[in-house]
Amino acid sequence: MIIKIATVNEKKYKVVKLLGKGKGGYSYLAVDKNQHYVLKQIHHEKCDYYNFGNKIESEIKDYQQLAEIGIKLPKMHDVDLKHERILKEYIDGETIYDLICQNKMKAEYMNQVHDMCSLLYTANINIDYFPTNFVVQNDEVFYIDYECNAYMDEWNFENWGIKYWSMTPEFIKYMEEHS
Ligand SMILES: Nc1ncnc2c1ncn2[C@@H]1O[C@H](COP(=O)(O)OP(=O)(O)O)[C@@H](O)[C@H]1O
Ligand SMILES: [Mg+2]
Repeated sequence: MIIKIATVNEKKYKVVKLLGKGKGGYSYLAVDKNQHYVLKQIHHEKCDYYNFGNKIESEIKDYQQLAEIGIKLPKMHDVDLKHERILKEYIDGETIYDLICQNKMKAEYMNQVHDMCSLLYTANINIDYFPTNFVVQNDEVFYIDYECNAYMDEWNFENWGIKYWSMTPEFIKYMEEHS
């Protein structure tokens, strides 16, 4: 196996594998001194349903805002502005999306996202409720994407996110085969 090295503010990390790619960047599992991290490399690929400002600045601002209101997030350890890389705490578990695919979704996870929503709505914020943005570690749900936006009814959990949280494995299989 070829292991690549990536730096964050000149500090070196071994890149183990790609964890996922979203509209914001490529997130890799990285290691230093037996400690696991997520290294997110921002990308500038076009996304037809979304308009971006400065992505790295948004990530920092959004992280601070969500941390302040008490949303469970991976800790932001470091930011390399020049290379547009973020070093975050690694949440060791599967995404809600993967759990749905394996029929391992629990009501308990839905309850936890509802608790997050009470904090978010009070602060007039929405997050990106799509199930790839949540990772479950020891039955604790973390919002691993830092993105947040001004609250709008149309994009809240009850009107938007829940559609995806209540998908079935069969539906996901069908979608993946026909996309
Ligand atoms: N801190 C983390 N711990 C575990 N997995 C993560 C973490 N951050 C990202 N991932 C994985 O990488 C994927 C993309 O990360 P995300 O931050 O949502 O990127 P984007 O902003 O591009 O959507 C996630 O769906 C998840 O599988
Ligand atoms: Mg995401």
